[in-house]
Amino acid sequence: MTALRRSELDFCPVLKELLQTRRGMTRSGDYAHTANISTPNNLITLRNLHLATGAKKTMEVGFGCAGSGLVFMQTHKDLGTLPQRQHLAIDPYQRAPWLDQIGLVAVEHAGLTEYLDLREEVSSLVLPNLVMAKARYDLAYIDGSHLFEDVFVDFYFVLRLLADQGIVLFDDCASPHISKVLRFIRANCASSLREFDLTPYRPAGGKSLKYRVARLLGRTQMVAFQKIGEPDRAWDSPFRNF
Ligand SMILES: C[S@@+](CC[C@H](N)C(=O)[O-])C[C@H]1O[C@@H](n2cnc3c(N)ncnc32)[C@H](O)[C@@H]1O
Repeated sequence: MTALRRSELDFCPVLKELLQTRRGMTRSGDYAHTANISTPNNLITLRNLHLATGAKKTMEVGFGCAGSGLVFMQTHKDLGTLPQRQHLAIDPYQRAPWLDQIGLVAVEHAGLTEYLDLREEVSSLVLPNLVMAKARYDLAYIDGSHLFEDVFVDFYFVLRLLADQGIVLFDDCASPHISKVLRFIRANCASSLREFDLTPYRPAGGKSLKYRVARLLGRTQMVAFQKIGEPDRAWDSPFRNF
């Protein structure tokens, strides 16, 4: 990590350590590798976006090592809101042997447990229940299963869970599974979502050459959309190929 990125992570020392050491403590007291944690660039972008929007309710699919979860929860705290489990995270594998609660332990070490509502089930089962309960979120991060069919289902329900002007972010957008979902959104969802430029929220305001080139080529790792209307496609709407 560059010096710049290190200082931009000072807001959460537990997260900074997870990123620097690439390992975190599990429930059994061993250390596990934080292989799947979101990148520092993405985490700083999430942090800046959350601070700027002041999002009151946040959610993520894919809790993993709690990299992104720590950003959301610490930002809720820094925005001065009392802990009310206002960050919902979905991950069925937090207690699996390969994770052994690494994310939950990190959240405890950061003193943020009361901000977390963790649902330990696959997102395709949790999300429809949230829709039934009429839940609404201002910011949503989709970083769970990276299979096309799962990301598409995540997107379908998250769109229905977003508040007006809410923002949904996708990680790992270079993956063919995820870029296929993004192409569907761009071709068929213009009445409910518009692309949201993350440049101002990137580290160093998105000025790095690498980021500018990736953006020009449409190959940034994280892509966001803002909700501008409820999904209103009639059942027999024309299909725009993508
Ligand atoms: C890339 S990791 C998430 C990393 C996390 N955003 C972070 O910064 O630490 C993806 C996570 O998605 C979870 N996952 C896999 N399939 C899932 C599903 N169907 N529903 C919800 N989560 C899922 C995995 O257990 C894994 O922890």
